[in-house]
Parts: sequence; C-alpha cells; structure tokens
Amino acid sequence: MIHVNKEDRQFELHTRNMLYACSVDDANRLNFLAWSGKSPSQDGPVFSSRRDFRLHECAAQDPDKPVDEVCGYGDEGAREPAIRLSILGTDNAVHSTEAIRDLRLRYVSYQVGKADVPHAGAPTHGRQTRQTREGDWLMLTLEDASYPLRVVLYMRPDEDADMLERYLVIENRGGRNVVVEHAWAASLTLPVDRYQATHLCGAWIAEFEQQRQVLPVGSTVIESRSLTSGSRHQPVVFFQPAGRAGRSHGVTYAAQLAWSGNWRIQMEQRHDRSMRVHLGENPMDADFVLSPGESQASPLVLATYSRDGEEGAASHFRSYHSRCTLAGAPTRRPVLYNSWEATYFDLSLDGQIALARKAAEIGCELFVVDDGWFGARRSESAGLGDWYVSPDVFPDGLKPLSDAVHDMGMDFGLWFEPEMVNPDSDLYRKHPDWVLHFPDRPRVEARHQLILDFGRPEVVDCIREQMVAVLDAVPVEFIKWDMNRTPNPPGSIAGKRIWRRHVEAVHQLMDYLLKRYPRLQIQSCSSGGGRADAAMLARCCQFWTSDNTDAIERFRIQEGFALAYPTEAMECWVTHEHNHQTGRNHSLSLRFASSMRGVLGVGSSLNELSDQELGEYKKYIELYKRVRHLIHQGKLNRPSLYEVSDGLSAWQYTAEDQRESYLSVVLVTHTPGQTPSHVTLSELEETARYRVQEMLRGDTFEATGAELMHVGFQCAPMLEKHTPSYVGTDYHWLIWAI
Ligand code: GLA
Repeated sequence: MIHVNKEDRQFELHTRNMLYACSVDDANRLNFLAWSGKSPSQDGPVFSSRRDFRLHECAAQDPDKPVDEVCGYGDEGAREPAIRLSILGTDNAVHSTEAIRDLRLRYVSYQVGKADVPHAGAPTHGRQTRQTREGDWLMLTLEDASYPLRVVLYMRPDEDADMLERYLVIENRGGRNVVVEHAWAASLTLPVDRYQATHLCGAWIAEFEQQRQVLPVGSTVIESRSLTSGSRHQPVVFFQPAGRAGRSHGVTYAAQLAWSGNWRIQMEQRHDRSMRVHLGENPMDADFVLSPGESQASPLVLATYSRDGEEGAASHFRSYHSRCTLAGAPTRRPVLYNSWEATYFDLSLDGQIALARKAAEIGCELFVVDDGWFGARRSESAGLGDWYVSPDVFPDGLKPLSDAVHDMGMDFGLWFEPEMVNPDSDLYRKHPDWVLHFPDRPRVEARHQLILDFGRPEVVDCIREQMVAVLDAVPVEFIKWDMNRTPNPPGSIAGKRIWRRHVEAVHQLMDYLLKRYPRLQIQSCSSGGGRADAAMLARCCQFWTSDNTDAIERFRIQEGFALAYPTEAMECWVTHEHNHQTGRNHSLSLRFASSMRGVLGVGSSLNELSDQELGEYKKYIELYKRVRHLIHQGKLNRPSLYEVSDGLSAWQYTAEDQRESYLSVVLVTHTPGQTPSHVTLSELEETARYRVQEMLRGDTFEATGAELMHVGFQCAPMLEKHTPSYVGTDYHWLIWAI
C-alpha cells in the first residue's frame, strides 16, 4: 500500500510488517524518514502529520542535515553520495574548469502508477507482468537545481512478501554530455545503532559460506569484479543490532541487489552509530557518458525487515522470489540426470543412451548432456565457440539421442558456455578480434579460453544463430548455461561500458531463447554458484549451486544459499560414493538426504552401480517425488541448522493451506553420548490433528498442530551405541492433517 500525504509531501510505503517513509522538506530535498516494522492491522498512514527529520535518529552525524534519499555529490557533506557525476562544458573535457562536479537534486513531482521504465536486469520476454500494474509504484522525480539532469526514484512495496523494490533512472535532459562516475542503485539508512552483519562469501567449490561480524567503524565492502555476480560474495546482506538478535530472533534488516554482473555493497557504520548501506553496480572501471537525451536505469534493490531474525528476513526473500522473480516460470522442476561426472569428455551416442536408459529406470525425468558434444571439444582446450554438433561424437546429429531420451519419457538438455571461445576453434580462427583484449597486448587465457566481446552485436548475433540452429534441429527442453572464467583484460569495442553491456547481452540472449522456445528452462551454472542472483533467477529457474557435491559440504552450502533464494531454484545432485571434489566417501542415504532439499539431480556413473544400488536410487527418487510439491512450492522453515545444532539439520516445508508438511532431518554428525535435540515445527494449524509418519521406517503417531509446534518431538531417535550409520542418518517425516 502506498500512502501519499499531499499537503505535507510525505510518502509511506507499507508492506504487511514493514514501513518505509520519506518526505519533501521546505528546501525541496527528498529526505529519508523511516525504515521500520509496523503492524499488519495498520491500514492508514503511520504518521499523523508532518514529521520533522530531526525526530529521526538517523540524523545523528549532522543534526541539522537531513539524510537525502538520493544524495548528489555536492549535497552530501561528509556522506557517501548516491550519484557522482560531471556535467561537461562546451569543451567536452572532463579535466576542465568548465566541467561541473556538483549535483543538487530537488523534488519536482510524484506519481503513483506503472513503472514506465523497467529496471536494468528486468526480463524482456514478458514472463513477468506484475511489475507494471497500475498503482503499484511510487515514482518520485528529482532534478538538479540548475541543469536538467533528472533522477526518478521508483519504489514498490510488495505487501505479501514484506519486500520493498526500488531502483533509479538517471536522465540527461539537457544539451551537454554528462560523465556518470558512480551511481548507487540505492542507499538505505538504518536506525542509529551498532550493527552486526551477515553476508555470504566463498570461492569455487566453497560457495555461500555465511560470514557474521560486528561491523567495525568505517566502511566494509563486499563486491564482485568477475563480470558475473560471482561466488566470492553474494549481493545480499543482513543487519541486526549487535548482540540483540540472531538467526531466528530479533530485529533484522536485509537488502539484496538483483544484478548479474560486477556489483558492490558498501556498509557504513559510523562512530556516532549511524548506519547506511549502499548497493549498486561496481564503480570500478565503469564511468560512462550519458549523452543529451540518454537515460540509464539501475538494477533493482530489494529491502526487507523482520522481527524473526535472519531466518525471518530470508523467508521474505524466498517467498518474494517464488512469487515475483519466478512469476510465469514453469513450476515443474524435473529430476535431472547429468552425465558430466560419469563420462566427462568421453562422449558417444551408445554410451549416452545406455546412461539415459538407466536414468529413466531409476525415475529421472530430464537427461542432460554436459560439455563435449560440439565442435572439436574433446577436451578443455578446443571447441568453445563452435556450437554445431560434433560429427565425431554424434555422426547423425543429436536426433538419435534426443529421440531415444524422449521415447524413454524424459526431457532432453544440453550444456552451453555461450560467452566463451577457445583459441583452438573455427570461430576464433575466423574472428580473432571478437574477444575481450586490448590491441597489441597479450591475451590472457584461463582454462584455455577467452571471453567473447559481447559489446559487439555481431558476436552475440553469431552465438545466437548457432544456438538457434541446434535448438531448432531437435527439441531441447533444458540448457545448462555455464560461464567459467573471470575477465582480464577487459578490452572491448564498448570500452568501459562492457561491464554492463556484457550482462545486458547475456540477459537479452536468454530472453530471446525463452521467448522462442516457451518450454525451455535454463540453469545458471558459472562453475557452480558463480552467477546466482535475482536478475538471473528471473530467467534461469534454477541454479547449479556448486560443483562441490560432497554431501556434508552441501549442508553448509545449502544453508547459505537458502538465506537468499528459494529451494525450488537450488539444484542438488547425488554423485558417486567417492566424491570427485573432496575425495571423501559418504553413504547413499546421506547423499540423497542433502540432495532432496531442492531440485534433485543425479550425476553418478550409473553404469558402474549394481542393481541393488540402482534400486536404492529408485527408492529415494520415489520418496522425493512424493514430497517434491512441498519442497518446491511449500514454505521453508528451518527448525535446526547444521552449523549451530551439533550436526542436526532439520528443514520443514509446509503447504500454504497448512494441511501437509515434510520434515527432512539428518544427523550429519553427532557427539556420542548426547541425545539429538528434538525440534518444534512451524506453520501448522494449532487445533488441527495431524498424522506424522517417518517415510522410510514407517513409524507413525498422531498429534495436534499445537503439540508439534510448541512441544515438538524427537525427530532423530537415539540409535544403539556404536551403530556405524550413526553419522549421516536421515529421517523423512511426512505430516498431514486428518
Ligand atoms: C564447469 C561446470 C561443471 C561442468 C564443467 C564442464 O566446471 O561447473 O558442472 O559443466 O564446467 O566443462
């Protein structure tokens, strides 16, 4: 709900439990007023009259200065400006006395309506219609006091998900060139306090690790410089008053940036205890000219508030993404088989058909051929860029395999890495200039590959045409979209704009394919977890979470992932007993227990398994299919987190109508002599009666919702001492109303 107090020029944006407010002062500055909780029953505005910014604690540092919603360089005093730019003079030179490095944004008007300019990263294939509904958006127009440089701030409260969406559009309406040196997509102010922050960091095969720290006085920066959203940090951060909140209790503010390229989040905790966070594209090497008449939209920022700790805020992100970001995406996520770890580059038609037959027998619904099916790609060192079916591997094209897979009742999928080229490829030999490089300087290979210059439209056209030729020839329902290296050097025909152009080109190419092939699903891979972000999620309905498929590692990785994204987007595979990344051995039940928590996949060498083992695979896949609708469409609550509960991990997924719930419990590790803690459930009806059944062992009992939610139960019963399976024992509880 948007409330506008016209007389006092005060704006309130309400979600069920959150308030965001700003107002215009006598000097026509748009001031931040409040970001806080509110009661769901609050219908009308929270502020009864004009609110003086001095009443708000956020003015601590400069008591006489309000905090601007969008602060230009020139108005900022000692603060971080939202926008830094130079308005060039008639000499068009940056380093000239004529260049004006001063921006004073003043309020012009407001409008409540449709977002007429979509944010950067918004899908263009029409899957999402929610964001353009009449009355959804508050648009606040600001303009520089002396040059027609406009900034429109777009904000939409999503009531049900308790989420505020916001972004900026900068418009050069004057006659001069403007060099935009830096523009944050949003600068958010928190109530004055000392804060602890949680964010997700990592590296290849160690993604989504949770970092918690009391913020030092000063600036703390997390960012990506990898041309993708990256695995080193995730563009999401949670803030809590230090020491007064935790994982599932206490006031929590959280923000997330929807951008698939370089980004930065800067957290500013000051000595006076004021606190701001800035989110946007990474300013590194990214200044650009906005010519007369040009405009640029920022990526979308999501902001939320909860009284239920990080998990409360995380559940807002999950619910928002399921309802909004994934709006229009297919809800069916087939059980996937991927042949990468079974065959690597050793592909053949017969070998793939043999694997597909076994995959279908155990219950897989999608068969994906990974790397190596195209061009001269018999190893990492050749073939990228040549997206035609290899006659050496598939002499009659992909049709015999695709037909066989479809006849077995499965969908068919293919791996692509569209942004890359091996120097040993037809494409590179023909167009050596089509890669990121600087003339007459050495090109730097990584994994024997170079990045194509997506700043050149002809390069994107060429890749699109090649992909279309493959996808037109045989029905392909699934693409694994990989991206496996970082950009150095970033020399492009687009100059410094390449950081944005590349991301836009990838988004547009995906949008084109999704529109042309309405049944197509895309998985975002990027070495596993390297390009998982909300702008990708609008296109790729699932992420390959990590190349690390070690079950124990996956509990940690998945705990982090689910802080930002829904489990229906979290692809998890069961692979070999002897893990290829860590060399550790884990039982099949442990591997399934971790992989059943999102979109289940299998990546094992099925040809090497006994019938008895294949039977076990089949049993678990059947079990998963019985509860898949809850795992994908249900609400996730996490009564016990592996990292804090002595190795007991319990995730509960509940249907919206509260009639059915699935509780996945794993004793990942356990201290001998201690009884595993019992857990209490959530989201059930207090007075309803439920039957509770352990799906593998058949143990059953009945209880009321109140009993399960307040008293709880021993969901991991004690095993005999010295039981070898004591570590890694899984329990699958189905709870349904009777
Ligand atoms: C990356 C991906 C893997 C696999 C290989 C293929 O490493 O993360 O899953 O697809 O590429 O080369």
